[in-house]
Amino acid sequence: MDKKVQLIYDNNTYEFPLVEGTEKETGIDIKTLRAQTGLVTLDPGFKNSGSCQSEVTFLNGEKGELKYRGYSIEDLADGADFLEVAYLLIFGELPTQAQLEKFQSDIHKESLVDEDLKLILKSFPRSAHPMGALASLTSALTAFNPESVDIDSDQDMYEAIVTIMAKFPVLCAWTHRKVKGLPLNYSNSSLGYVDNIAQMMFRRPTENYVSNDIVNRALNKLLILHADHEQNCSTSTVRIVGSSHAGLFASISAGISALWGPLHGGANQAVLEMLEAINKDGGDTKKFMAKAKDKNDPFRLMGFGHRVYKNFDPRARIIKKSADEVLNELGINDPILDIAKGLEQEALNDPYFVDRKLYPNVDFYSGIIYRALGIPTEMFTVMFALGRLPGWIAQWREMRKNNEPIGRPRQIYTGQVDKVFTDISKR
Ligand code: CMC
Repeated sequence: MDKKVQLIYDNNTYEFPLVEGTEKETGIDIKTLRAQTGLVTLDPGFKNSGSCQSEVTFLNGEKGELKYRGYSIEDLADGADFLEVAYLLIFGELPTQAQLEKFQSDIHKESLVDEDLKLILKSFPRSAHPMGALASLTSALTAFNPESVDIDSDQDMYEAIVTIMAKFPVLCAWTHRKVKGLPLNYSNSSLGYVDNIAQMMFRRPTENYVSNDIVNRALNKLLILHADHEQNCSTSTVRIVGSSHAGLFASISAGISALWGPLHGGANQAVLEMLEAINKDGGDTKKFMAKAKDKNDPFRLMGFGHRVYKNFDPRARIIKKSADEVLNELGINDPILDIAKGLEQEALNDPYFVDRKLYPNVDFYSGIIYRALGIPTEMFTVMFALGRLPGWIAQWREMRKNNEPIGRPRQIYTGQVDKVFTDISKR
């Protein structure tokens, strides 16, 4: 693209090239801004700044579109298996049957987790939030698998990917079993990836485990919907930590901590707690709507709004339909679902939400399904992490393969200047 942007500063005109993506969004390439002008940009929260060029995921916030490697989220959620989607995100193309079988079998071979990791989990109090335990266990994986990945070796990279894809679900299941006081168990190599996750979480030592199709289908869909979302907070964290050449597991552990926050992945837990509070309070949604609109009240309508979507989050549409189906299939009548639907209707017709283009996001309905599947509220964000793992891996791999420079933003200093030091005895 030979169009340029001109910047006039101090009577000088500077030119900067434009960069156009394959879906036609355009950015100004300011790589030489400081060198040419001595200026930096200021963009808190990176609301206008692209941190990289990426081939993994595209989303159009105005239209409410989401695509992984060019495939629409609707088609993938409808027809694909989570492991196929993971392969697609990480390696760039949908796998053939043979490639998928090899991927699955290599993952199975790596699914044993060192027994000593159990000691780390044991030292956590039962009341500890599972996300804290998961971040620690994932970070500890580095200690148990210390070989660093040679990014130029496809074999090395593949082994690291397979290792984390195999061990991460075990760690997630263990955080759940810890909360429930259940013995820590292992992967079963005769089961598919998602079925295996379900059995690791739900199998009780006193009973035979019977796979449940409804549970597996719902989990498969939720994991696919969460698998990647371009440069969100946790993914940017994974990329920026990895940009210092920290290892894959350490970078993912940092991503887990970023995901935990209630403005990001922690919103799914916050949504359900909010819906429960409304239910307990007698179901008066108007009262909570008023609180959400009151600028003197810190309360926000959790599960509403998004940095990029200024339209329906396409994942929320799919999850809402799925929540209806799953509750129906399981024969559950959950009053929380009615409260959620009522709240959504009110928000969609309220000028505060309409003017600010605040729509339900992925987290609004997901907790209702997790709850129906028997997953406790504090595990919801762990479920998000399970789904997001392939996205984190794909983005980390891309960042390293592109040899991106270390992430290191600038700032505008606003502190005190030229203070004179006085000895402590004189202060
Ligand atoms: N309830 C009430 N008001 C809201 C909400 C909300 N959920 N979200 C945004 N607003 C208002 C906000 O007060 C501001 O109003 P004003 O212009 O009058 O100051 C305006 O809308 C713009 O909000 P913002 O905070 O500047 O927008 P942002 O892009 O910085 O934040 C967000 C995006 C997702 C953090 C925010 O919408 C939010 O806090 N939502 C609730 C938490 C949530 O559901 N998070 C999950 C996001 S999706 C999954 C994920 O990425 O993890």
